[in-house]
Amino acid sequence: MKNLLSWDQTLFKDPELFELDHIPEHFLHRETQLEALQYCIRPALGGSRPLNCLCIGSPGTGKTTAVSKIFEEIEKHTSRLIPVFVNCQVNSSRYAVFSQIFKKLIGYSPPSSGISFKKIFSEVARYLAEHEKVLIVALDDMNFLFYENEVDEVLYSLLRAHETNPGARIGVIAILSDTGVPHILDPKVESVFLPEEIKFPQYSRDEIKDILSNRARMGFYPNVVEDNILAKITDHTFSLGDLRVGIDLLKRSGLNAERRASRIIAPEDVDFAYEKSRLVHLSYIMRSLKKDEKILLGLIADSSLANSGELYEKFHSKTSLGYTRFYETLNKLGSIKLIDADFTGKGARGRSRVVTLRYQANEIKMRL
Ligand SMILES: Nc1ncnc2c1ncn2[C@@H]1O[C@H](COP(=O)(O)OP(=O)(O)OP(=O)(O)O)[C@@H](O)[C@H]1O
Ligand SMILES: [Mg+2]
Repeated sequence: MKNLLSWDQTLFKDPELFELDHIPEHFLHRETQLEALQYCIRPALGGSRPLNCLCIGSPGTGKTTAVSKIFEEIEKHTSRLIPVFVNCQVNSSRYAVFSQIFKKLIGYSPPSSGISFKKIFSEVARYLAEHEKVLIVALDDMNFLFYENEVDEVLYSLLRAHETNPGARIGVIAILSDTGVPHILDPKVESVFLPEEIKFPQYSRDEIKDILSNRARMGFYPNVVEDNILAKITDHTFSLGDLRVGIDLLKRSGLNAERRASRIIAPEDVDFAYEKSRLVHLSYIMRSLKKDEKILLGLIADSSLANSGELYEKFHSKTSLGYTRFYETLNKLGSIKLIDADFTGKGARGRSRVVTLRYQANEIKMRL
């Protein structure tokens, strides 16, 4: 009985540490990226315009966390520089982005209609010039601005504000999930954006282990996670390349052990948890798919074993898009590991491929 947990006991010393929006106190293996961000922001501390930057890397590599950490520091140490963090999935138009900025500066949201973008923009610019503040705007998940075709307008308005309103100094931190397809900006925007590129490579197996071990040590009571369990969770996380999977696995495995009234996590607790945790990654990558990509994915999910030639016919009749776009879309779905597309060597054009899903069809369809 001593080895069992009573119903009101818990394995979690600090459950908050296993929430995905938690900003970790120890942010390991991202020193280079944090230094690069500081370098870009430094001019703003003296009142100049910061350098723009572009944080790019695949899902779960610490981009949002890095910028949030830097923003925390700025809020703590200076009032000259005002950081505004915009989630572009929710705020995907120029109007919405500037409403967020307005709210941060002026203290309340502008009305959601009946007031022009120009008005909001000039209020923002006037505020900055009058109060001699420098603005730094993080556009998190900027991919969504591309999908809505708003990216050029948003960047253009932010980066050329000082031309129409002298004294309005604004820098941009763009955060982009790397999906293997190039994101192209209007040359007019490109010429004023000129970002410092900050790459967020995937974590190595050892780095993942280190980060998860730290999280487990801080979040669980001692000895809940033994070495073999940590290794197992690390392997799953490494295979999907998304740290969210590991954090979610720690949480769910802990809950499974608690349900059995056990004081330590067993391998079965992890196996059971993985059935759900791997879907955390799936949901994250699927939310960033464009319409055509979703259509193709749906077609693949509908056919048990698809050949790329047949898929193209169906894709074309649904979207009227040509072979090049089909091919690019197929490659993208492959590069974000939703499908496998293996060459068979046969086929009319000599490049026929067998396309298979890496998840169950119903798991995909539920999220389309
Ligand atoms: N180096 C790290 N140390 C500790 N925790 C980390 C580290 N990197 C990422 N995390 C954790 O992993 C999770 C995912 O990180 P984050 O949200 O920053 O990824 P992202 O690169 O913004 O992904 P996406 O492109 O999908 O938005 C977060 O819960 C974060 O706390
Ligand atoms: Mg992010």
